[in-house]
Amino acid sequence: MDKIQIKGGNRLNGELKISGAKNAALPLMVASLLSDEPLTLTNVPHLTDISQLTEILCGLGVDLVMNGDGHAEAETGRVITLTARNITSTFAPYDLVRKMRASFLVIGPLLARCHQAQVSLPGGCAIGTRPVDLHLKGLEAMGAEIELIEGYVHAKAPGGLKGAHFHFPFVSVGATENLMMAASLAKGTTVLENAAQEPEITDLGLCLMAMGAKISGLNTRTLTIEGVDRLNGTAYRVMPDRIETGTYLMAVAAAGGEVELIGARSDLIGAVIPLLSNAGVKIGETNRGIKVSRNGAHYEGVEVTTEPYPGFPTDLQAQLMALVCTAKGTSRITETIFENRFMHAPELLRMGADIAIEHQTAVIRGVERLKGAQVMATDLRASVGLVIAGLAAEGETTVNRVYHLDRGFERIEEKLGGLGADIRRIKG
Ligand code: EPZ
Repeated sequence: MDKIQIKGGNRLNGELKISGAKNAALPLMVASLLSDEPLTLTNVPHLTDISQLTEILCGLGVDLVMNGDGHAEAETGRVITLTARNITSTFAPYDLVRKMRASFLVIGPLLARCHQAQVSLPGGCAIGTRPVDLHLKGLEAMGAEIELIEGYVHAKAPGGLKGAHFHFPFVSVGATENLMMAASLAKGTTVLENAAQEPEITDLGLCLMAMGAKISGLNTRTLTIEGVDRLNGTAYRVMPDRIETGTYLMAVAAAGGEVELIGARSDLIGAVIPLLSNAGVKIGETNRGIKVSRNGAHYEGVEVTTEPYPGFPTDLQAQLMALVCTAKGTSRITETIFENRFMHAPELLRMGADIAIEHQTAVIRGVERLKGAQVMATDLRASVGLVIAGLAAEGETTVNRVYHLDRGFERIEEKLGGLGADIRRIKG
């Protein structure tokens, strides 16, 4: 297994291009199931999660053409054309769904278009149990009959799905996406209350609308979707990755230096900029993206709780924790989205951090300096948190299990190396 080795202490300077958003690209790819015409997506990142999903979609009969894998295109992202002219299977197997939870999103579009689907339950994962009950309750409200048989969801809607009113008891990004796609081809109008309003939901909504869907209420907690008989193909550019953006902001804040993030959008990371600015990190908009800088001065500790958008995202919690390990004073980070998302804390302790976990809250007392160590993490964002810690630490840090990073961070060692970090991949 590959490892990433970092010699800490170098400041980061220069510019880098922010990639297309993984968590926007995945549902957009699934949306191709809703039309028999081609959907062309541009600015798709080169990530293993994307390749995993292509495998599932191909298994359902989607014809896929992928360009942009050459080095020259690395800066502009992949172009993927997905054509679901004939859906030849409505079965998504355990082996594939278990590896990539977002593939559970195929159930809504398959039900809407083919009136049936058999999709494996994804199972738990390193950050929590992550059930899919809201996806299923919403589809049932739209008339689907659902049975669980040997770990598989068997769903059918003999006369097609029907519009419904569905109130989410709490916010779910994936369930909102699933129901939005299903409702686009249902008979009648669907109203989703207390829906997620993450920017990835808006990206999906805009693409569905370009395909002919009738959706109102994007960027709010209530989505109204008037079902149509068919959707057409379109071309759509995936939004820039707000989590990658936030990650590089924190990397520069931790290591020091000045970096321009080309293509980054400040409107997508509303809660992050004031938090870092108050802590003493300089962040400003440029006409190409966002510039971040920190000189030698220490930054202050923070108090933050993860929340659905527009609150502080859980997907940046590990990176923030790594950053505040060396802040002035004490920080408190409360995780409310996932029950088990502090797996990076014991690894940071190995690097000399002072962290105590009290239920959902991590209390981090700033230390003068972290020290390099061998570390490993069990999820994507935790792994990149450890990379940030390694950049700021004294000495050498080796981050094991790099396959997590490859799921969600495009060419991370090249991007950080280009800014002056001493970082390399050791092939395993
Ligand atoms: C999406 O996951 C993201 N994944 C996650 O990013 C992100 O952390 C999460 O949203 C929250 O922002 C993708 O977009 C592919 P949820 P999702 O449904 O949709 C519970 C990353 O690192 N829940 O909003 O699975 C659930 O267990 C990943 O890129 C139910 O109880 O998240 C969690 O506690 C990790 N029943 C909470 O709701 C359900 O039916 C929010 O989950 C659905 C969710």
